[in-house]
Amino acid sequence: MNPKPPKAKTTSDTPTASFVVVANRLPVDRIENEDGSTDWRTSPGGLVTALEPVMRKNEGAWVGWHGAPDEVLQPFEDAGILLVPVPLSAEEVEEYYEGFSNATLWPLYHDVVAHPEFHREWWDAYVRVNQRFADQTAAVAEQGAVVWVQDYQLQLVPQMLRAQRPDLKIGFFLHIPFPPTELYQQLPWRNQILEGLLGADLVGFQLPGGAQNFVRLVRQRLHYQTHRDRINTPEGRTVLARAYPISIDSQGMADLATSPAIEARAAEIRRDLGDPKFVFLGVDRLDYTKGLPERVQAFGELVSDGSLDPEEAVFVQVATPSRERVDQYRILRDDIDRLVGRINGDIGRIGRPPITYLHSSYPKDEMAALYRAADVMVVTPLRDGMNLVAKEYVACRPNEDGALVLSEFAGAAKELRQAYLVNPYDIDGMKGRLLEAMNDSPRSKTRRMRILRRQVFDNDIDRWATLFLDDLASPTA
Ligand code: G6P
Repeated sequence: MNPKPPKAKTTSDTPTASFVVVANRLPVDRIENEDGSTDWRTSPGGLVTALEPVMRKNEGAWVGWHGAPDEVLQPFEDAGILLVPVPLSAEEVEEYYEGFSNATLWPLYHDVVAHPEFHREWWDAYVRVNQRFADQTAAVAEQGAVVWVQDYQLQLVPQMLRAQRPDLKIGFFLHIPFPPTELYQQLPWRNQILEGLLGADLVGFQLPGGAQNFVRLVRQRLHYQTHRDRINTPEGRTVLARAYPISIDSQGMADLATSPAIEARAAEIRRDLGDPKFVFLGVDRLDYTKGLPERVQAFGELVSDGSLDPEEAVFVQVATPSRERVDQYRILRDDIDRLVGRINGDIGRIGRPPITYLHSSYPKDEMAALYRAADVMVVTPLRDGMNLVAKEYVACRPNEDGALVLSEFAGAAKELRQAYLVNPYDIDGMKGRLLEAMNDSPRSKTRRMRILRRQVFDNDIDRWATLFLDDLASPTA
Protein backbone atom coordinates (compact mmCIF):
# COMPACT_ATOMS: atom_id res chain seq x y z
CA MET A 1 0.00 0.00 0.00
CA ASN A 2 1.16 3.51 -0.81
CA PRO A 3 -0.60 6.02 1.41
CA LYS A 4 -0.96 9.43 -0.21
CA PRO A 5 -1.82 12.76 1.36
CA PRO A 6 -5.58 13.35 1.29
CA LYS A 7 -7.30 15.23 -1.50
CA ALA A 8 -9.11 17.98 0.39
CA LYS A 9 -12.77 17.95 -0.59
CA THR A 10 -13.57 21.34 0.94
CA THR A 11 -11.76 24.64 1.07
CA SER A 12 -10.91 24.17 4.74
CA ASP A 13 -7.87 22.15 5.83
CA THR A 14 -9.84 19.18 7.13
CA PRO A 15 -11.04 16.91 4.34
CA THR A 16 -14.69 15.89 4.68
CA ALA A 17 -16.98 13.22 3.25
CA SER A 18 -20.69 12.55 2.80
CA PHE A 19 -20.32 8.87 3.78
CA VAL A 20 -18.26 7.98 6.83
CA VAL A 21 -17.53 4.59 8.35
CA VAL A 22 -16.32 4.62 11.94
CA ALA A 23 -14.68 1.44 13.26
CA ASN A 24 -12.14 0.70 15.97
CA ARG A 25 -9.69 -0.36 13.29
CA LEU A 26 -8.76 1.19 9.99
CA PRO A 27 -8.71 -1.38 7.16
CA VAL A 28 -4.92 -1.27 7.39
CA ASP A 29 -2.60 -1.63 10.36
CA ARG A 30 0.65 0.25 10.72
CA ILE A 31 3.32 -2.26 11.68
CA GLU A 32 6.96 -1.92 12.56
CA ASN A 33 9.41 -4.16 10.68
CA GLU A 34 12.43 -5.74 12.34
CA ASP A 35 14.76 -3.14 10.78
CA GLY A 36 12.68 -0.36 12.38
CA SER A 37 10.95 0.74 9.16
CA THR A 38 7.14 0.84 9.08
CA ASP A 39 4.65 -0.78 6.73
CA TRP A 40 0.90 -1.20 6.28
CA ARG A 41 -0.89 -4.53 6.43
CA THR A 42 -4.57 -5.50 6.05
CA SER A 43 -6.22 -5.59 9.48
CA PRO A 44 -7.45 -8.91 10.91
CA GLY A 45 -11.00 -10.10 11.33
CA GLY A 46 -14.40 -10.25 9.77
CA LEU A 47 -15.30 -6.57 10.03
CA VAL A 48 -12.61 -5.40 7.65
CA THR A 49 -13.18 -8.39 5.32
CA ALA A 50 -16.82 -7.37 5.02
CA LEU A 51 -16.57 -3.59 4.86
CA GLU A 52 -13.63 -3.08 2.54
CA PRO A 53 -15.56 -3.87 -0.65
CA VAL A 54 -18.46 -1.66 0.49
CA MET A 55 -16.10 1.24 1.07
CA ARG A 56 -14.33 0.82 -2.23
CA LYS A 57 -17.68 1.39 -3.95
CA ASN A 58 -18.81 4.30 -1.80
CA GLU A 59 -15.68 6.48 -1.85
CA GLY A 60 -16.15 7.70 1.67
CA ALA A 61 -14.02 8.31 4.71
CA TRP A 62 -13.04 5.65 7.27
CA VAL A 63 -12.30 6.81 10.81
CA GLY A 64 -10.37 4.29 12.90
CA TRP A 65 -7.29 3.37 14.89
CA HIS A 66 -4.23 2.30 12.89
CA GLY A 67 -3.19 -0.44 15.32
CA ALA A 68 -0.06 1.14 16.89
CA PRO A 69 0.07 3.04 20.22
CA ASP A 70 1.29 6.60 20.86
CA GLU A 71 1.35 7.72 17.24
CA VAL A 72 -0.51 10.68 15.77
CA LEU A 73 -0.96 10.38 12.00
CA GLN A 74 -2.54 12.74 9.51
CA PRO A 75 -5.45 11.61 7.30
CA PHE A 76 -4.36 9.99 4.03
CA GLU A 77 -5.98 8.47 1.00
CA ASP A 78 -5.79 4.86 -0.11
CA ALA A 79 -7.61 3.37 -3.11
CA GLY A 80 -10.21 6.14 -3.13
CA ILE A 81 -10.91 5.94 0.61
CA LEU A 82 -9.98 8.76 2.96
CA LEU A 83 -8.43 7.11 6.01
CA VAL A 84 -8.62 9.14 9.21
CA PRO A 85 -6.42 7.69 11.97
CA VAL A 86 -7.54 8.10 15.60
CA PRO A 87 -4.60 7.95 18.02
CA LEU A 88 -4.59 5.74 21.13
CA SER A 89 -2.01 5.98 23.90
CA ALA A 90 -0.38 2.80 25.21
CA GLU A 91 -2.53 3.09 28.33
CA GLU A 92 -5.69 3.43 26.25
CA VAL A 93 -4.76 0.37 24.22
CA GLU A 94 -4.56 -1.49 27.52
CA GLU A 95 -7.71 -0.12 29.12
CA TYR A 96 -10.08 0.62 26.25
CA TYR A 97 -9.03 -1.98 23.63
CA GLU A 98 -7.53 -4.94 25.50
CA GLY A 99 -9.50 -4.20 28.67
CA PHE A 100 -13.06 -2.99 28.27
CA SER A 101 -13.54 -4.01 24.63
CA ASN A 102 -11.83 -7.39 24.71
CA ALA A 103 -11.83 -8.56 28.33
CA THR A 104 -15.24 -7.12 29.36
CA LEU A 105 -17.56 -6.78 26.36
CA TRP A 106 -16.17 -9.54 24.11
CA PRO A 107 -16.64 -12.41 26.62
CA LEU A 108 -19.90 -10.94 27.97
CA TYR A 109 -21.44 -10.71 24.49
CA HIS A 110 -20.20 -14.21 23.57
CA ASP A 111 -22.25 -16.13 26.13
CA VAL A 112 -19.64 -15.61 28.89
CA VAL A 113 -17.54 -18.46 27.42
CA ALA A 114 -14.70 -16.72 29.28
CA HIS A 115 -15.21 -14.72 32.47
CA PRO A 116 -15.78 -10.98 31.78
CA GLU A 117 -13.83 -8.59 33.99
CA PHE A 118 -15.42 -5.37 35.20
CA HIS A 119 -13.07 -2.50 36.06
CA ARG A 120 -14.08 1.12 36.47
CA GLU A 121 -10.82 2.50 35.00
CA TRP A 122 -11.44 0.45 31.85
CA TRP A 123 -14.92 1.94 31.56
CA ASP A 124 -13.53 5.47 31.98
CA ALA A 125 -11.06 4.82 29.15
CA TYR A 126 -13.87 3.41 26.98
CA VAL A 127 -15.90 6.61 27.46
CA ARG A 128 -12.87 8.81 26.74
CA VAL A 129 -11.87 6.96 23.57
CA ASN A 130 -15.45 6.76 22.27
CA GLN A 131 -15.63 10.54 22.72
CA ARG A 132 -12.46 10.94 20.67
CA PHE A 133 -13.88 8.84 17.85
CA ALA A 134 -17.10 10.90 17.96
CA ASP A 135 -15.16 14.20 17.84
CA GLN A 136 -13.00 13.03 14.94
CA THR A 137 -16.08 11.86 13.04
CA ALA A 138 -17.91 15.13 13.67
CA ALA A 139 -14.95 16.95 12.11
CA VAL A 140 -14.90 14.75 8.99
CA ALA A 141 -18.64 14.38 8.24
CA GLU A 142 -20.17 16.84 5.78
CA GLN A 143 -23.46 18.54 6.63
CA GLY A 144 -26.21 15.86 6.47
CA ALA A 145 -23.70 13.04 5.91
CA VAL A 146 -24.45 9.36 6.48
CA VAL A 147 -22.29 7.94 9.28
CA TRP A 148 -22.07 4.21 9.88
CA VAL A 149 -20.58 3.25 13.25
CA GLN A 150 -19.30 -0.32 13.63
CA ASP A 151 -19.14 -2.83 16.45
CA TYR A 152 -18.87 -3.27 20.19
CA GLN A 153 -15.80 -1.08 20.72
CA LEU A 154 -17.79 2.05 19.80
CA GLN A 155 -21.26 1.67 21.29
CA LEU A 156 -21.28 5.16 22.84
CA VAL A 157 -20.34 6.94 19.61
CA PRO A 158 -23.89 7.26 18.17
CA GLN A 159 -25.14 9.24 21.18
CA MET A 160 -21.96 11.34 21.46
CA LEU A 161 -22.07 12.14 17.77
CA ARG A 162 -25.73 13.09 17.76
CA ALA A 163 -25.13 15.50 20.65
CA GLN A 164 -22.71 17.45 18.42
CA ARG A 165 -24.20 16.83 15.01
CA PRO A 166 -27.99 16.37 14.98
CA ASP A 167 -27.90 16.90 11.18
CA LEU A 168 -26.29 13.49 10.55
CA LYS A 169 -27.96 10.19 9.64
CA ILE A 170 -26.39 7.72 12.05
CA GLY A 171 -26.40 3.95 11.65
CA PHE A 172 -24.80 1.41 13.97
CA PHE A 173 -24.02 -2.24 13.23
CA LEU A 174 -22.97 -4.81 15.82
CA HIS A 175 -20.80 -7.53 14.24
CA ILE A 176 -20.84 -9.81 17.28
CA PRO A 177 -23.82 -11.41 19.06
CA PHE A 178 -26.00 -9.22 21.25
CA PRO A 179 -26.32 -11.30 24.43
CA PRO A 180 -29.43 -12.64 26.13
CA THR A 181 -30.92 -10.05 28.49
CA GLU A 182 -29.95 -12.06 31.62
CA LEU A 183 -26.26 -11.88 30.70
CA TYR A 184 -26.33 -8.29 29.48
CA GLN A 185 -27.71 -7.17 32.85
CA GLN A 186 -24.43 -8.11 34.54
CA LEU A 187 -22.80 -5.08 32.98
CA PRO A 188 -22.47 -2.27 35.55
CA TRP A 189 -22.80 0.28 32.71
CA ARG A 190 -25.75 -1.43 31.01
CA ASN A 191 -27.99 1.65 30.77
CA GLN A 192 -25.25 3.93 29.45
CA ILE A 193 -24.51 1.53 26.61
CA LEU A 194 -28.18 1.20 25.65
CA GLU A 195 -28.44 4.99 25.61
CA GLY A 196 -25.23 5.22 23.58
CA LEU A 197 -26.63 2.93 20.88
CA LEU A 198 -29.96 4.77 20.84
CA GLY A 199 -28.18 7.84 19.46
CA ALA A 200 -28.40 6.02 16.10
CA ASP A 201 -31.40 6.14 13.75
CA LEU A 202 -30.93 2.47 12.91
CA VAL A 203 -29.24 -0.19 15.07
CA GLY A 204 -28.35 -3.34 13.11
CA PHE A 205 -27.69 -6.83 14.46
CA GLN A 206 -26.61 -10.08 12.82
CA LEU A 207 -29.74 -11.99 13.86
CA PRO A 208 -33.35 -11.15 14.75
CA GLY A 209 -32.77 -12.57 18.25
CA GLY A 210 -30.13 -9.90 18.96
CA ALA A 211 -32.45 -7.11 17.82
CA GLN A 212 -35.24 -8.50 20.01
CA ASN A 213 -32.94 -8.74 23.05
CA PHE A 214 -31.97 -5.11 22.55
CA VAL A 215 -35.56 -3.85 22.21
CA ARG A 216 -36.62 -5.82 25.29
CA LEU A 217 -33.78 -4.33 27.34
CA VAL A 218 -34.61 -0.81 26.22
CA ARG A 219 -38.21 -1.34 27.32
CA GLN A 220 -37.34 -2.99 30.64
CA ARG A 221 -34.40 -0.87 31.69
CA LEU A 222 -35.04 2.54 30.16
CA HIS A 223 -38.86 2.30 30.08
CA TYR A 224 -39.02 3.66 26.54
CA GLN A 225 -42.05 2.82 24.46
CA THR A 226 -41.39 0.13 21.87
CA HIS A 227 -43.41 -1.48 19.12
CA ARG A 228 -41.85 -4.51 17.40
CA ASP A 229 -38.61 -3.17 15.87
CA ARG A 230 -39.34 0.49 16.68
CA ILE A 231 -38.28 2.40 19.76
CA ASN A 232 -39.62 5.84 20.63
CA THR A 233 -37.16 7.96 22.57
CA PRO A 234 -38.35 10.56 25.11
CA GLU A 235 -37.10 13.36 22.83
CA GLY A 236 -39.45 12.15 20.10
CA ARG A 237 -37.10 10.26 17.77
CA THR A 238 -37.76 6.80 16.37
CA VAL A 239 -34.93 4.27 16.42
CA LEU A 240 -35.19 1.06 14.40
CA ALA A 241 -33.55 -2.19 15.61
CA ARG A 242 -33.30 -4.85 12.90
CA ALA A 243 -31.26 -7.83 11.73
CA TYR A 244 -28.94 -7.68 8.72
CA PRO A 245 -26.89 -10.89 8.46
CA ILE A 246 -23.50 -9.85 7.10
CA SER A 247 -21.80 -11.56 4.17
CA ILE A 248 -18.79 -11.51 1.85
CA ASP A 249 -17.84 -10.39 -1.63
CA SER A 250 -18.97 -13.79 -2.93
CA GLN A 251 -18.21 -13.25 -6.62
CA GLY A 252 -14.82 -11.68 -5.88
CA MET A 253 -13.89 -14.66 -3.73
CA ALA A 254 -15.16 -17.11 -6.37
CA ASP A 255 -13.18 -15.39 -9.14
CA LEU A 256 -10.04 -15.58 -7.04
CA ALA A 257 -10.60 -19.26 -6.24
CA THR A 258 -11.01 -20.28 -9.87
CA SER A 259 -7.86 -18.58 -11.15
CA PRO A 260 -5.29 -21.06 -12.53
CA ALA A 261 -2.65 -19.86 -10.07
CA ILE A 262 -4.87 -20.65 -7.09
CA GLU A 263 -5.87 -24.02 -8.50
CA ALA A 264 -2.19 -24.88 -8.94
CA ARG A 265 -1.43 -23.72 -5.41
CA ALA A 266 -4.29 -25.86 -4.03
CA ALA A 267 -2.85 -28.93 -5.76
CA GLU A 268 0.57 -28.10 -4.36
CA ILE A 269 -0.83 -27.83 -0.82
CA ARG A 270 -2.35 -31.29 -1.12
CA ARG A 271 0.95 -32.69 -2.39
CA ASP A 272 2.83 -31.09 0.49
CA LEU A 273 0.40 -32.74 2.89
CA GLY A 274 1.31 -36.14 1.42
CA ASP A 275 -1.64 -36.43 -0.99
CA PRO A 276 -4.10 -37.65 1.63
CA LYS A 277 -7.56 -38.80 0.62
CA PHE A 278 -9.24 -36.24 2.90
CA VAL A 279 -8.12 -32.79 3.98
CA PHE A 280 -9.99 -31.24 6.92
CA LEU A 281 -9.48 -27.49 7.39
CA GLY A 282 -10.07 -24.98 10.17
CA VAL A 283 -9.40 -21.23 9.77
CA ASP A 284 -9.93 -18.91 12.71
CA ARG A 285 -8.54 -16.01 14.66
CA LEU A 286 -6.94 -17.62 17.70
CA ASP A 287 -9.88 -16.83 19.98
CA TYR A 288 -11.51 -18.79 22.82
CA THR A 289 -14.92 -18.30 21.20
CA LYS A 290 -13.89 -20.37 18.18
CA GLY A 291 -13.94 -23.78 19.87
CA LEU A 292 -10.46 -24.81 18.74
CA PRO A 293 -9.60 -27.23 21.58
CA GLU A 294 -12.93 -29.07 21.18
CA ARG A 295 -12.39 -29.46 17.43
CA VAL A 296 -8.80 -30.64 17.69
CA GLN A 297 -9.82 -33.03 20.47
CA ALA A 298 -12.60 -34.53 18.31
CA PHE A 299 -10.26 -35.07 15.37
CA GLY A 300 -7.53 -36.52 17.60
CA GLU A 301 -9.97 -39.02 19.13
CA LEU A 302 -11.17 -40.12 15.70
CA VAL A 303 -7.59 -40.95 14.79
CA SER A 304 -6.69 -42.59 18.08
CA ASP A 305 -9.83 -44.74 18.25
CA GLY A 306 -9.20 -45.97 14.71
CA SER A 307 -12.23 -44.28 13.05
CA LEU A 308 -9.85 -42.26 10.87
CA ASP A 309 -6.66 -43.49 9.26
CA PRO A 310 -3.95 -40.82 9.58
CA GLU A 311 -2.56 -42.01 6.23
CA GLU A 312 -5.87 -41.01 4.68
CA ALA A 313 -7.01 -37.94 6.59
CA VAL A 314 -5.17 -34.86 7.83
CA PHE A 315 -6.32 -31.74 9.62
CA VAL A 316 -4.92 -28.31 8.77
CA GLN A 317 -5.66 -25.64 11.35
CA VAL A 318 -4.79 -22.03 10.59
CA ALA A 319 -4.97 -19.86 13.71
CA THR A 320 -4.41 -16.16 13.08
CA PRO A 321 -2.65 -14.39 15.97
CA SER A 322 -5.04 -12.11 17.83
CA ARG A 323 -5.11 -9.86 20.95
CA GLU A 324 -1.94 -11.52 22.12
CA ARG A 325 -1.49 -9.44 25.26
CA VAL A 326 -4.90 -10.31 26.71
CA ASP A 327 -4.53 -13.05 29.39
CA GLN A 328 -7.26 -15.37 28.10
CA TYR A 329 -5.68 -15.36 24.62
CA ARG A 330 -2.24 -16.21 26.03
CA ILE A 331 -3.70 -19.09 27.99
CA LEU A 332 -5.53 -20.38 24.92
CA ARG A 333 -2.40 -20.22 22.80
CA ASP A 334 -0.48 -22.35 25.30
CA ASP A 335 -3.39 -24.78 25.62
CA ILE A 336 -3.62 -25.31 21.85
CA ASP A 337 0.15 -25.68 21.48
CA ARG A 338 0.10 -28.37 24.16
CA LEU A 339 -2.95 -30.16 22.80
CA VAL A 340 -1.73 -30.29 19.19
CA GLY A 341 1.74 -31.34 20.36
CA ARG A 342 0.29 -34.13 22.48
CA ILE A 343 -1.97 -35.46 19.73
CA ASN A 344 0.74 -35.34 17.07
CA GLY A 345 3.23 -36.86 19.53
CA ASP A 346 0.87 -39.69 20.45
CA ILE A 347 -0.41 -40.66 17.03
CA GLY A 348 1.86 -39.07 14.41
CA ARG A 349 4.56 -40.74 12.33
CA ILE A 350 7.78 -39.21 10.96
CA GLY A 351 6.85 -36.59 8.37
CA ARG A 352 3.13 -37.27 8.86
CA PRO A 353 1.62 -35.22 11.69
CA PRO A 354 -2.17 -35.78 11.70
CA ILE A 355 -2.63 -32.10 12.57
CA THR A 356 -0.77 -29.35 10.74
CA TYR A 357 -1.05 -26.30 12.96
CA LEU A 358 -0.17 -22.88 11.52
CA HIS A 359 -0.12 -19.95 13.94
CA SER A 360 0.08 -17.23 11.33
CA SER A 361 -1.98 -14.97 9.07
CA TYR A 362 -2.06 -15.46 5.31
CA PRO A 363 -3.08 -13.29 2.38
CA LYS A 364 -6.44 -13.82 0.71
CA ASP A 365 -5.09 -15.83 -2.23
CA GLU A 366 -3.43 -18.37 0.06
CA MET A 367 -6.72 -18.67 1.95
CA ALA A 368 -8.58 -19.27 -1.32
CA ALA A 369 -6.08 -22.03 -2.21
CA LEU A 370 -6.58 -23.64 1.21
CA TYR A 371 -10.36 -23.56 0.78
CA ARG A 372 -9.98 -25.23 -2.60
CA ALA A 373 -7.66 -27.85 -1.16
CA ALA A 374 -10.05 -28.79 1.68
CA ASP A 375 -12.61 -31.60 1.47
CA VAL A 376 -14.18 -30.81 4.82
CA MET A 377 -14.27 -27.31 6.26
CA VAL A 378 -14.69 -27.31 10.03
CA VAL A 379 -16.21 -24.15 11.54
CA THR A 380 -17.19 -24.95 15.12
CA PRO A 381 -17.28 -21.82 17.31
CA LEU A 382 -18.86 -21.95 20.75
CA ARG A 383 -20.50 -18.64 19.87
CA ASP A 384 -20.00 -16.39 16.82
CA GLY A 385 -21.87 -13.36 15.50
CA MET A 386 -21.83 -14.66 11.92
CA ASN A 387 -18.56 -16.32 10.77
CA LEU A 388 -17.46 -15.30 7.32
CA VAL A 389 -14.98 -18.17 6.90
CA ALA A 390 -17.96 -20.51 6.44
CA LYS A 391 -19.29 -18.30 3.64
CA GLU A 392 -15.85 -17.92 2.04
CA TYR A 393 -15.42 -21.70 1.85
CA VAL A 394 -18.78 -22.07 0.12
CA ALA A 395 -17.92 -19.32 -2.38
CA CYS A 396 -14.66 -21.14 -3.18
CA ARG A 397 -16.26 -24.47 -4.24
CA PRO A 398 -17.03 -23.97 -7.95
CA ASN A 399 -17.41 -27.72 -8.53
CA GLU A 400 -20.14 -27.93 -5.87
CA ASP A 401 -18.13 -30.46 -3.91
CA GLY A 402 -16.69 -30.33 -0.40
CA ALA A 403 -18.53 -30.31 2.92
CA LEU A 404 -19.09 -27.64 5.56
CA VAL A 405 -19.32 -28.70 9.19
CA LEU A 406 -20.81 -25.74 11.03
CA SER A 407 -21.61 -24.95 14.65
CA GLU A 408 -25.23 -24.29 15.52
CA PHE A 409 -23.92 -21.38 17.59
CA ALA A 410 -22.50 -19.42 14.66
CA GLY A 411 -24.88 -16.81 13.23
CA ALA A 412 -24.18 -18.32 9.79
CA ALA A 413 -26.01 -21.51 10.84
CA LYS A 414 -29.32 -19.62 10.58
CA GLU A 415 -28.74 -19.16 6.85
CA LEU A 416 -26.52 -22.12 5.91
CA ARG A 417 -29.03 -24.77 6.92
CA GLN A 418 -27.60 -27.34 4.50
CA ALA A 419 -24.27 -27.49 6.32
CA TYR A 420 -23.55 -30.46 8.60
CA LEU A 421 -24.63 -28.70 11.78
CA VAL A 422 -23.01 -29.55 15.13
CA ASN A 423 -23.11 -28.67 18.80
CA PRO A 424 -19.38 -28.05 19.46
CA TYR A 425 -19.75 -28.85 23.16
CA ASP A 426 -20.77 -32.40 22.24
CA ILE A 427 -17.47 -34.05 21.31
CA ASP A 428 -19.05 -37.39 20.37
CA GLY A 429 -21.67 -35.63 18.27
CA MET A 430 -18.93 -33.63 16.56
CA LYS A 431 -16.94 -36.80 15.82
CA GLY A 432 -20.02 -38.33 14.23
CA ARG A 433 -20.64 -35.26 12.09
CA LEU A 434 -17.01 -35.09 10.92
CA LEU A 435 -17.23 -38.70 9.73
CA GLU A 436 -20.62 -38.12 8.15
CA ALA A 437 -19.36 -35.06 6.26
CA MET A 438 -16.35 -37.03 5.05
CA ASN A 439 -18.23 -40.15 4.02
CA ASP A 440 -21.42 -38.66 2.63
CA SER A 441 -22.14 -39.57 -0.99
CA PRO A 442 -20.91 -37.19 -3.68
CA ARG A 443 -24.53 -36.70 -4.73
CA SER A 444 -25.64 -35.62 -1.29
CA LYS A 445 -22.61 -33.33 -0.93
CA THR A 446 -23.39 -31.67 -4.25
CA ARG A 447 -27.04 -31.20 -3.36
CA ARG A 448 -26.08 -29.52 -0.09
CA MET A 449 -23.33 -27.39 -1.60
CA ARG A 450 -25.56 -26.19 -4.43
CA ILE A 451 -28.11 -24.83 -1.95
CA LEU A 452 -25.39 -23.28 0.21
CA ARG A 453 -23.87 -21.58 -2.81
CA ARG A 454 -27.19 -20.13 -3.88
CA GLN A 455 -27.58 -18.65 -0.39
CA VAL A 456 -24.10 -17.12 -0.37
CA PHE A 457 -24.30 -15.69 -3.90
CA ASP A 458 -27.85 -14.31 -3.47
CA ASN A 459 -26.98 -12.68 -0.16
CA ASP A 460 -23.59 -11.07 -0.66
CA ILE A 461 -21.97 -8.09 0.99
CA ASP A 462 -23.47 -5.62 -1.50
CA ARG A 463 -26.95 -6.77 -0.65
CA TRP A 464 -26.19 -6.49 3.07
CA ALA A 465 -24.91 -2.92 2.73
CA THR A 466 -27.75 -1.91 0.41
CA LEU A 467 -30.43 -3.24 2.75
CA PHE A 468 -28.90 -1.45 5.73
CA LEU A 469 -28.21 1.85 3.98
CA ASP A 470 -31.62 1.92 2.27
CA ASP A 471 -33.37 1.48 5.61
CA LEU A 472 -31.16 4.16 7.11
CA ALA A 473 -31.99 6.59 4.29
CA SER A 474 -35.73 6.00 4.45
CA PRO A 475 -37.46 7.74 7.37
CA THR A 476 -40.48 5.41 7.15
CA ALA A 477 -38.62 2.12 6.64
C1 G6P B 1 -14.03 -9.42 15.13
C2 G6P B 1 -14.67 -8.12 15.59
C3 G6P B 1 -14.00 -6.93 14.92
C4 G6P B 1 -12.50 -7.00 15.12
C5 G6P B 1 -11.95 -8.33 14.63
C6 G6P B 1 -10.44 -8.49 14.85
O1 G6P B 1 -14.32 -9.65 13.79
O2 G6P B 1 -16.06 -8.13 15.33
O3 G6P B 1 -14.50 -5.72 15.45
O4 G6P B 1 -11.86 -5.94 14.46
O5 G6P B 1 -12.62 -9.38 15.31
O6 G6P B 1 -10.11 -8.27 16.18
P1 G6P B 1 -9.10 -7.11 16.59
O7 G6P B 1 -9.20 -7.02 18.07
O8 G6P B 1 -7.78 -7.58 16.09
O9 G6P B 1 -9.55 -5.85 15.90
